[in-house]
Amino acid sequence: MDGSRLIVALDFATADEARAFVARVTPAQCRVKVGLELFTVAGPAFVTELAERGFDVFLDLKFHDIPNTVAQACSRAAGLGAWMLNVHTLGGRRMLEAAREAIDKVSRRPLLIGVTVLTSHEAHEVEEVGLSGDLGAQVERLTALAADTGLDGVVCSPLEAERLRRRFSAPFALVTPGIRPTGSDRQDQRRTLTPAEAIAQGADYLVVGRPVTRAPDPSAVLGAIVQEIRTAEGRQSRKIPG
Ligand code: C5P
Repeated sequence: MDGSRLIVALDFATADEARAFVARVTPAQCRVKVGLELFTVAGPAFVTELAERGFDVFLDLKFHDIPNTVAQACSRAAGLGAWMLNVHTLGGRRMLEAAREAIDKVSRRPLLIGVTVLTSHEAHEVEEVGLSGDLGAQVERLTALAADTGLDGVVCSPLEAERLRRRFSAPFALVTPGIRPTGSDRQDQRRTLTPAEAIAQGADYLVVGRPVTRAPDPSAVLGAIVQEIRTAEGRQSRKIPG
């Protein structure tokens, strides 16, 4: 089964819960994402453990600090065996370039992805922190900065993917959370698309959490999503980067 577009968010409170989940799926079915919660309790050793089990790990820590600190953090993340990592584009040009230069020196270079405007933000909140204007325009401007500084892609809402894909062509990667398989509960996500819709909009990688991690049979849900992705891919010829 080719689950290479699928990244399962391991949003668990302990390493043991995450271990119990990954024991039920295989690296051929999905890649995995370790975010702030799991990293805080399970630490770097767990990232290496996942990589040693054969999983491609997206280390979702959204680095944002002075250029030297972020560059060092990126080197350390690459050293853990992460396949993908991310930095916040609001860290600015020099920080993004420093991050990219740091991972360019690594032999198994991870993909470096930028976070633009968090999709949880509403227009008034973005304005409150000093970014004015249309949210979509902000996302596009920060994506241009990511592309210009040599990042490999951005995280974006599946609803922004079409607009970004028109301007930023492959292999620039679009990584989209907010995915809900047809018929599943949206939980606290508001603006969601199905896997097939997200692929049609130009997404490369789909991040899915609870619909898989909380399913009684995660393998079956992954199988259904991969089938849906394959059908959507059949309608276009775009190859995924990485
Ligand atoms: O369970 P669910 O599918 O909603 O999980 C989505 C994952 O993607 C979570 O790890 C969440 O933190 C992450 N994410 C998101 N929206 C963003 C960025 C990240 O849902 N804009």
